[in-house]
Amino acid sequence: MKTKINNLSVFTSGDTNSRPIIFVHGFPFDHRMWDAQIEELSKYYHCITYDIRGLGESPAGDGQFTMDWFVDDLETIIDELKLNRPVLCGLSMGGYISLRAMERMEVKFRALILCDTKALADDNAGKIKRAEGIKSINESGVENFVEQFVPICFSENFRIKNKPEYEEVLIRSKSNSPIGVKGCLLAMAGRTDTTNYLPNISIPTLIISGEKDKLTPPLVMKSMADQINNSEFYVVDEAGHMAPLEAADMVNEKMRSFLAEYSKP
Ligand code: MLT
Repeated sequence: MKTKINNLSVFTSGDTNSRPIIFVHGFPFDHRMWDAQIEELSKYYHCITYDIRGLGESPAGDGQFTMDWFVDDLETIIDELKLNRPVLCGLSMGGYISLRAMERMEVKFRALILCDTKALADDNAGKIKRAEGIKSINESGVENFVEQFVPICFSENFRIKNKPEYEEVLIRSKSNSPIGVKGCLLAMAGRTDTTNYLPNISIPTLIISGEKDKLTPPLVMKSMADQINNSEFYVVDEAGHMAPLEAADMVNEKMRSFLAEYSKP
């Protein structure tokens, strides 16, 4: 089912009486990156996902976004849908949102799943890359930016072996609003570092890392897992930065066993 909350497109599936899981997608993608997880997990859980402000079907407005505004949106969705301590699952930028949400309101969540993400904020080189991204969108358009950025997110193997699926993601990403994509780049460049909060996370946490992830490599994710007390670290063989999409079966199985332990259907 599709609904609008705060003008954002929110998608729900599964039995509303089941335990909730809320999925937060990465950049520059949309809620559909979680299709395979939702198809499987909505048999047992109430699954909620949404398009982050500025991406997919959610409006870009003037593109003046901050990471904290993204967290405000997440909180509004949880409150409006009256979700009782959902499991929070975020990938990459969705993970940045999730980690900031932990700092702000961990008590609202039952468990945490972090996929291909990190707690570290952008360093100077990272901020300069964001600036170059914005410049390239201004000069050559969002399609060109997506052409350069999205291939890095997937393993070469996936791009070759799953061409139609990969091309579909590429086309969808290119259709994002340039203002929205630039707004997300600004929000990511300006986000705070959540590393200091990691030892305070007390809810069960599953950390999923694509073996071939070039953006948030397994070593970075392992170091994050080491700082979270109640955490489990899982590497997905051969997958890149988009592990839930590239290796859906493996990721679904891992999520299911983690959820069976910490958030029984
Ligand atoms: C993402 O997948 O959300 C992005 O790679 C995050 C980033 O650019 O830092």
